[in-house]
Amino acid sequence: MDYRVLLIDDDPIIRKVVGLTLEKAGFVLQTASNGTEGINILERGDFSPDCVILDIRMPKISGIEVLSRIRKKFPLIPVIMLTALTDIEIAIDTMRRGAFDYILKPVRKVQLIETVKKAIRYREIQLENERLVKENLEYQRSLERKVEERTRELLMAYKKLKEANLETVKVLAETIEAKDPYTRGHCNRVRILSSEMASVIGLSKDRIESIEYGALLHDIGKIGIPENLLHKNGPLTPEEAEKFHQHTIIGDNIIKDVDFFKSCRKIIRGHHEWYNGKGYPDGLSGNQIDISARIVAIADSFDAMTSTRPYRTARSLDFALEELVKGKGSQFDPDLIDIFIDREIYRSIFPLRDTEDSTAIHS
Ligand SMILES: [Fe+2]
Repeated sequence: MDYRVLLIDDDPIIRKVVGLTLEKAGFVLQTASNGTEGINILERGDFSPDCVILDIRMPKISGIEVLSRIRKKFPLIPVIMLTALTDIEIAIDTMRRGAFDYILKPVRKVQLIETVKKAIRYREIQLENERLVKENLEYQRSLERKVEERTRELLMAYKKLKEANLETVKVLAETIEAKDPYTRGHCNRVRILSSEMASVIGLSKDRIESIEYGALLHDIGKIGIPENLLHKNGPLTPEEAEKFHQHTIIGDNIIKDVDFFKSCRKIIRGHHEWYNGKGYPDGLSGNQIDISARIVAIADSFDAMTSTRPYRTARSLDFALEELVKGKGSQFDPDLIDIFIDREIYRSIFPLRDTEDSTAIHS
């Protein structure tokens, strides 16, 4: 390979002697008689040298100034300074300013060629390093792009999975309601009320989502309760009540092995627990009952009261709210009741109720 050397020196004899030595050694040479000419050659780009030999003492622009310009604009081209013995301190200083090396005049051929070869090798290593850094950077970028793409795909797949799950839950909720036409739309209204309440008290998006699923599925265990019991027109006997209470445990058992719905278990099992510990199935009280179950308990009771049931017609809004207040601290979490009433959470289902079930409310 032909390596190119640019020699910048104002002395024509040096240009000739050094030039001949380099050409004899196989280098392609270009000369310049002053700094400006040398810089022009570099800037034109038609002769890209692998190394520059630069005289320190020159008229107009000094070698030191030319060195600084080359370092700034062409940092990968090594510069060898040519200097007289009297200027050796300046030569050493140029190395601090980025010169690759210096050669003393009179120039010794062997030293000249060795120094130029070293400089060119140094440049090759620099270029190779730069290439590797660039390659590495490109590789990193392509990895980042792949990660981004994969993340997008995963998010999309997750979104689809969630949509499919929601559909499954809705179908399950409809299955419960199909057993009991009086509860038509009940699960969805409980979902809306619970979601609204969870959002008002500042629960996270994920938590709200799992509360929505749990609200839709809260009575899934009714699948295991005989229909004559579900449709009974009148109060339940203690034995029947005992059997009916099982729907919380049956529901929990149905859902407990489905990983996606595990977060709903506390709602399904706990939505009939009472704040004072007198509910079922576990007799939990206060904060022992998960907040999601305490929320759904209120939404469930409110919607049950304001819906027509086999044994009675829908109660008025005022009646239902009064009942909730009566249950503060006994059946229901008192703080959540305050929020339900003060923030008029119940309003979130009324527009639906008016169109969906005209018999449901007459307040
Ligand atoms: Fe229930």
